[in-house]
Amino acid sequence: MEKNSVSISGKSVVGMKDFSSDEIRLVLNTARKFKQVIRGGEKKLPNLRGKAIVNLFYEPSTRTRTSFELAGKYLGADVVSITSGTSSIVKGESLRDTLRTIEAMGVDAIVMRHKSEGAADFATKAVKPIIINAGDGAHAHPSQALLDLFTIEQAKGRLAGLKVVIVGDILHSRVARSDVYAMTKMGMEVHFAGFKTMLPRFFDFDGVTVHESLEEAIKNADVINVLRIQLERQQAGLFPSTREYARVFGINEERLRLAKDDVLILHPGPQNKGLEISSEVTYCANSAIHDQVQNGVAIRMALLDLTLNGGAK
Ligand code: CP
Repeated sequence: MEKNSVSISGKSVVGMKDFSSDEIRLVLNTARKFKQVIRGGEKKLPNLRGKAIVNLFYEPSTRTRTSFELAGKYLGADVVSITSGTSSIVKGESLRDTLRTIEAMGVDAIVMRHKSEGAADFATKAVKPIIINAGDGAHAHPSQALLDLFTIEQAKGRLAGLKVVIVGDILHSRVARSDVYAMTKMGMEVHFAGFKTMLPRFFDFDGVTVHESLEEAIKNADVINVLRIQLERQQAGLFPSTREYARVFGINEERLRLAKDDVLILHPGPQNKGLEISSEVTYCANSAIHDQVQNGVAIRMALLDLTLNGGAK
């Protein structure tokens, strides 16, 4: 355990707005230790032996669901994953009843993804197990923000003072919302770039600079976080066409030349190749997209261990 008074033991993880910089630092430092475990041969730790975790996913996921499941298993917990399509949710069971049913089975934590903003907060009030928000609509995706910070710090050796540009559909992005709270708390300089229609209408982020020109935004950037264009949430027609989006805001090698030589490229995944990012950029030496996935397991191990176990072992 960290030799200071900071603790998130027993805390539900709903959003980065509720985390202090000291709490974020605790998670990042703990993840660093777990990354060594993942890289070592023997991944089974006893930290969460006797604990039960349910992954409750109402929306599709590859990275978040699998990494939370592996994180719990690497720490010795019993982990069960439920998806909406293969549970009694398809028979019309309410979220409250589903949560209470899972609680009745004696679980210690519920990792939850839901299409509605506020679903994770609702869950914290409906049941006693620790709730970890794995994404709720366009509201928050806290473990993604933490793994983004961790990936940047691993690559750059620091966070404070770095210029990060978040490009894309900020309006629909729970990643952008969580990133901006986490990054500004850690002293980073945050910029948004996107079509005007993709920026929050009621702009409520202190200390963020907004650009409608990608070229202007990425000048001297240390980090570019390329958001996925969420085609499933684009009924409102926020841009003329995917071709137009790629032409104006797509991240390609030519545009990268405007940023610093060692600019770090992030993308939460899954990627729309040729739309928000080119294949060349995904696989270039500056890309940390693959590292983000491994770092996601370490961050989720840290979150589970610190909330369920206080990081005691
Ligand atoms: N980044 C992210 O949340 O990916 P998944 O949807 O695959 O979990």
